[in-house]
Amino acid sequence: MNYLEQIDLNRVPLHVAVIMDGNGRWAKARSKNRLSGHNEGAKALKNVLEACGELGVKYLTVYAFSTENWNRPKEEVNGLMELLVTSINKELPQFKKHGIKVNILGQLDRLPDHVQMAVNNVIRQTQKNDKLVFNVALSYSGRWEILNAVNNLIKDVKSGKLTSKEIDDELFKQYLTTKDIPDPDLLIRTSGEIRISNFLLYQLAYSELYFTDILWPDFSKEQFYKAVYDYQKRERRFGKTSEQIS
Ligand code: IPE
Ligand code: IPE
Ligand code: MG
Repeated sequence: MNYLEQIDLNRVPLHVAVIMDGNGRWAKARSKNRLSGHNEGAKALKNVLEACGELGVKYLTVYAFSTENWNRPKEEVNGLMELLVTSINKELPQFKKHGIKVNILGQLDRLPDHVQMAVNNVIRQTQKNDKLVFNVALSYSGRWEILNAVNNLIKDVKSGKLTSKEIDDELFKQYLTTKDIPDPDLLIRTSGEIRISNFLLYQLAYSELYFTDILWPDFSKEQFYKAVYDYQKRERRFGKTSEQIS
């Protein structure tokens, strides 16, 4: 089936989030080291970014490295950091050409200095772009993000910047790393794991979840179109009845 042809371009998700999982298993199946799996995963990400551009998806948020991933073997962590720096430097001209604005969500201060420099450079050089917002969750965890928001809210209440009465959903969202970014409409997770793994815990409240057994390095544009096609068949009720929706 040609999924692209089946997609209604007037109803594409505004924001797609992706847990890019399965690089290690992809490599293991080929008797390669885990880093070659991550390398191949970077290529899959490039395809998905292109697919988002083609469909007109406005926000893409990918889980690239979780807070918990710091506990992986040192060589793998270092390899991932190097891959990140090389990839963003290599892709910067493409980001500029296609109007992609890069944003990083996570505890940036935990990253090595040279990674922070590369990341800040790409953020600065793409900040005026407005075709597609590309959020990379890096050293990120949903619980860290929520606790960080709560602590910052407490500070602002204590200093008199706001009163506790003003705290509602809209204001709370302004304290999250996804400030000014709409909640994901669709979350995709590859590799057959059916869990959230501490990703966007607040923001995923009403997202449509799509799980596939495909390992991330094998995730093609066609797979992405298939996920969007599946999403378009869902009825998003947000607590209402089916009759109220139609
Ligand atoms: C996802 O692939 C990439 C990162 C978490 C950085 P994995 O490395 O988790 O691959 P598997 O789950 O071991 O196959
Ligand atoms: C989630 O994948 C994090 C990223 C994809 C970056 P993991 O492979 O780390 O998640 P778990 O450990 O299987 O839950
Ligand atoms: Mg994994």
